[in-house]
Amino acid sequence: MKVNGTHYRSIWFDHDLSEVRIIDQRWLPHRFEVVSLTTLDAFATAIRDMWVRGAPLIGATAAYGMAIEMARDASDAAMNHAWDKLHTTRPTAINLKWALDRCRAALLPLPVDERAGAALQLAHEIADEDVEINRNIGLNGLEIIRQIAARKPAGEPVRLLTHCNAGWPATVDWGTATSPMYHAFEEGIPIHVWVDETRPRNQGAMTSWELGSHGISHSYITDNAGGHLMQQGMVDMVITGTDRTTATGDVCNKIGTYLKALAARDNGVPFYVALPSPTIDWTVRDGVAEIPIEDRPEREVTFALGKLTDGTIGEVQVAPDGSPGGNPAFDVTPARLVTGLITERGVAEASEAGLAKMFPDLKGRA
Ligand code: MRU
Repeated sequence: MKVNGTHYRSIWFDHDLSEVRIIDQRWLPHRFEVVSLTTLDAFATAIRDMWVRGAPLIGATAAYGMAIEMARDASDAAMNHAWDKLHTTRPTAINLKWALDRCRAALLPLPVDERAGAALQLAHEIADEDVEINRNIGLNGLEIIRQIAARKPAGEPVRLLTHCNAGWPATVDWGTATSPMYHAFEEGIPIHVWVDETRPRNQGAMTSWELGSHGISHSYITDNAGGHLMQQGMVDMVITGTDRTTATGDVCNKIGTYLKALAARDNGVPFYVALPSPTIDWTVRDGVAEIPIEDRPEREVTFALGKLTDGTIGEVQVAPDGSPGGNPAFDVTPARLVTGLITERGVAEASEAGLAKMFPDLKGRA
């Protein structure tokens, strides 16, 4: 997507520098800063400390991290060490393990002197595939937006609500939840997006930034406003991303997603999840019981990071002195609350049968 007229992916290999480059998302939307990642440690830090974030981008970053380590040392020991180091960075998004497993399965059988080149090629493939998956999620989600638009008086916007940032910075490009929005906008369908701020890290500010940069009408709202807006008939459709979806269609996404799904159900608002197939964990059936929920530092809650009045980026303390914070970073929305899973192949029912029917070739993958 474009930033100040230049097209960016969220991660890319700079052939002139021979380095992997990322946008340091800790400072978005207030500062746009590109940095290089050159060592395995740097990749692990970037994922753990959320310089990069969002399930698909975490997966692509891990693949590039493996490639950089293979260029330094392509032994089995180095590969296993890289797998372990990258895998422990964040526990919830399954794309991380998916990408690392894919790299290891492809590289292990190769002679050591061929691994570095193959690893970089594979990282490029994973990144390119992600772009294509998200483009197709957009086209499949567009169909739903078209249907809602067709039921409205001409010119009235379709009002979507989204949570967190499942936008292009969370993926390699397009975003998952935002891709249908971009496609609808390009087609000239009027839309308005309610963007949850998504405390504690305010990923909604990033979503507002990217929608605004694209000229898409949106409002940045508090996390607790969604239920009220739905009761007032001001939301036509909710669409969120996912960090891990079980084989039975339960969806684990940024903390607060579940409450939006409950409010949507109570108000008859369709609740869709944009789901790239690498985000399906075919080994898990009960999301609430089995998906590990990341517990993040309490300081992210007791303080808030943002642009200060002097224009610098800094923290302000929100909680009173001495109050401990609690920071579960994700929650699980049971499949029964999900209207449909918008995948790259089409819209699947959020159920074991629905996912198996859409992905018969992937079902059962470890
Ligand atoms: O903690 P984050 O910012 O990595 O969480 C991101 C989300 O929860 C996204 O909704 C999810 O990864 C889907 S991104 C297409």
